[in-house]
Amino acid sequence: MKRFADTLLVLISAPITLPLALVVAVLVRANLGSPILFQQVRPGLNGAPFRIAKFRSMTDRRDDEGQLLPDRERLTVFGRFLRATSLDELPQLIHVLKGEMSLVGPRPLLMTYLALYTPRQARRHEVRPGIVGWAQVNGRNALSWPDRFELDVWYVDHQSLRLDLLIMWRGVWRVLRREGISQPGEATMEEFKGNPIDRLTFGPGRLLVIGGGGHGKVVADAAQEAGHWSAIEIYDDRYPELANCGPWAVAGKGEGLERSVSPEDEVMVAIGNADKRLALLDRLARGGVRVATVVHPSSTVSKHATVAPGSFIGAGSAVGPGTALGRGCIVNTNASVDHDCRLHDGVHICPGTHLAGDVTVGRTSWIGIGSAVREGLTIGDGVTVGAGAAVVADVADGETVVGVPARSAKANSGADA
Ligand SMILES: CC(C)(COP(=O)(O)OP(=O)(O)OC[C@H]1O[C@@H](n2cnc3c(N)ncnc32)[C@H](O)[C@@H]1OP(=O)(O)O)[C@@H](O)C(=O)NCCC(=O)NCCS
Repeated sequence: MKRFADTLLVLISAPITLPLALVVAVLVRANLGSPILFQQVRPGLNGAPFRIAKFRSMTDRRDDEGQLLPDRERLTVFGRFLRATSLDELPQLIHVLKGEMSLVGPRPLLMTYLALYTPRQARRHEVRPGIVGWAQVNGRNALSWPDRFELDVWYVDHQSLRLDLLIMWRGVWRVLRREGISQPGEATMEEFKGNPIDRLTFGPGRLLVIGGGGHGKVVADAAQEAGHWSAIEIYDDRYPELANCGPWAVAGKGEGLERSVSPEDEVMVAIGNADKRLALLDRLARGGVRVATVVHPSSTVSKHATVAPGSFIGAGSAVGPGTALGRGCIVNTNASVDHDCRLHDGVHICPGTHLAGDVTVGRTSWIGIGSAVREGLTIGDGVTVGAGAAVVADVADGETVVGVPARSAKANSGADA
């Protein structure tokens, strides 16, 4: 029924939208260059990827080194006009005809967001994505990501032709009212990095911890203290040789665990090797398994911090406001990660380590026990910071730094030779 109404409306409005699209296409070519379409892979119905097309609204302006300039500088007055009037979305009518999108539905966002949703938020993909959604016509600028997703799920549960007509009407009204108004600062919405912990749901099923080593024990212990799960079971490929992991029985191998997981159960990966941890998290997410977040109740995590699934926050640690932890991160016992830090996927902050504010840590980097990182620094991907180091300058990808102040380990041993 909805497909039929979508198709009908697109065809009926074609005498207006088609010439309009042609005019916009010519203006885009003249003002911003070619290609006139911006294309990107986005999640469609049930998260299945499709290629979305929009009219280009940014130039390809680059700096002297050939790097693209920041979004703000590439968005021209004309581009801003296209976005404010939503004319850049016109090509999506084709996706509606192809059945990849609907006129009304939750906006298709980025593929990377799929792994960050709670099971409830993921329900926004139970319907086809739309050109305009309930979240867009409900005071859109002030809303946080979790609030938007809540509106998307509300829409999924309350879909009707009447509601769709209301949303379309409000959408058109919004465009008309905003016409000509410049929207500074609204160029691009901040990226969704995960949920604040008060938005997460834990349990009520079992917590299945993959990895029966020291870290598995620490995770199981924190989960038991948190008390959200009906049972905690450990899985390790060394089973049955490894029959026990401290007080927790090892229940089986990690291999093929997906098949014995019920929809209420959650799985946590407690493997020290960050690449293995992330690969396993990817596999579980693809298998539709709920990935847990384990937070020790004695830790202090700001409501204004976000945590992606598969991350662990240990006893006595603190995570400050504005900080975002990626997937599969470990903030270990008594560590602190202060305000506005960004930890990319698979980062391990070892026990007793302190990151000052505004520190960025790249994917899978390992910040050794008892080290300190000064504010505002950027540590690259795959970095190792030695135990007890004091990091006072940026660290490049793949480096190992040690000592106080921290220096490249090679330079360190070289100096001694
Ligand atoms: C930095 C580190 C990764 C180097 O490991 P490695 O490559 O095996 O290096 P080595 O142990 O062979 O040491 C190489 C040199 O660096 C020195 N060194 C090693 N670790 C150091 C550290 N943390 N601070 C200062 N110097 C260090 C060694 O003394 C040695 O110096 P030398 O050549 O003058 O003898 C490791 O020592 C380390 O600190 N890892 C962090 C451990 C940790 O935090 N564990 C927490 C688990 S939760």
